[in-house]
Amino acid sequence: MGKIDFSMDYCEGAHPIVLDRLLKTNMEQTPGYGYDSYCQEAADIIKTMCGNESLAVHFLVGGTQTNLIAITAALRPHQCAIAPSSGHISTSETGAIEAAGHKIITVPEENGKITADQIRQVCDEYRNSESKVHITQPKLVFLTHATEYGTIYKRMELQAISDVCKENNLYLYIDGARLGYGLCAEDSDLDLPFIAKCCDMFYIGGTKQGLLFGEALIIKNEKISEDFRSIMKQRGGLLAKGRLLGLQFTALLENDLYFDLSRHANKMAQEIRNRLSQKGIRFFVENTTNQIFAIFPHEALEKFQQKYIFDVKNKAEGGSSIVRICTSWATVEENVQRLISCLQHEL
Ligand SMILES: Cc1ncc(COP(=O)(O)O)c(C=O)c1O
Repeated sequence: MGKIDFSMDYCEGAHPIVLDRLLKTNMEQTPGYGYDSYCQEAADIIKTMCGNESLAVHFLVGGTQTNLIAITAALRPHQCAIAPSSGHISTSETGAIEAAGHKIITVPEENGKITADQIRQVCDEYRNSESKVHITQPKLVFLTHATEYGTIYKRMELQAISDVCKENNLYLYIDGARLGYGLCAEDSDLDLPFIAKCCDMFYIGGTKQGLLFGEALIIKNEKISEDFRSIMKQRGGLLAKGRLLGLQFTALLENDLYFDLSRHANKMAQEIRNRLSQKGIRFFVENTTNQIFAIFPHEALEKFQQKYIFDVKNKAEGGSSIVRICTSWATVEENVQRLISCLQHEL
């Protein structure tokens, strides 16, 4: 038997219901570039789920592409984004935002999160600067939910961030590559309508949540949505066979599949987390979503790496490493039990 891969949440293809939908509609002829009835249907489902029929919904292929197109559509040439130092746009997108001409002001994160006060401070610094014309103007706040460390924002925190954005004329944008895992965390008090109310735009990630690929970008702010399709096309983000995105999202969002799969991934992660705690393994970050950040002694890690693939992040103090163990919509319970039993015997 090959190694079981717990290193990320996009190791597998797509949920069978999604594939079945693609297969059943395979020979249908539809208009291109998202002007088909499936994209319309998926957009309608999303608007209803968000409790706001006036939202604009656009389907894109991947996370970097979505962040790049959404953020650059929102910013004027002299404006910049504020992001946590661990934010995906700051650490993992090859400088896509910077390459498009916009600076990212990073603020120190705590467990992947930033606060309303930190954002206010950045805005105050800009406002009080005597050389505003020489520096970039903060205009957008980028958050990730669940965060890079699998933590989640609580209702009060997000409300405070949204308020500070409004006070300072900033757009609020949430990267929801793992939004379902965040919303379905056992301690989550957020839902889609609340997120839609707080943000100017956000996306519901599909690539890590059961689709072959695809992200649904939801834009509330009309200033950003103006001519958005043209901006997508110019940046290579308007898929000719756009229906593949709409179809996949209809399959994922109907009958609560998106949330059921998210709950499944979180449950699998919790089972692993419980056993790790029982064995005295400490966590780099405490969280309740599908990513586990455990501190593994090197000796144990080497043993586990013979059978399992984890994402080894950093060396920690005292001969240990920070290891990310990821579950997903596709994680097989049997493999989790196998890992748990291995943890029981080998740690
Ligand atoms: C939070 C987040 N945003 C964006 C992305 C980028 O997605 P992609 O690799 O599809 O461009 C990722 C991928 O790991 C991610 O975790």
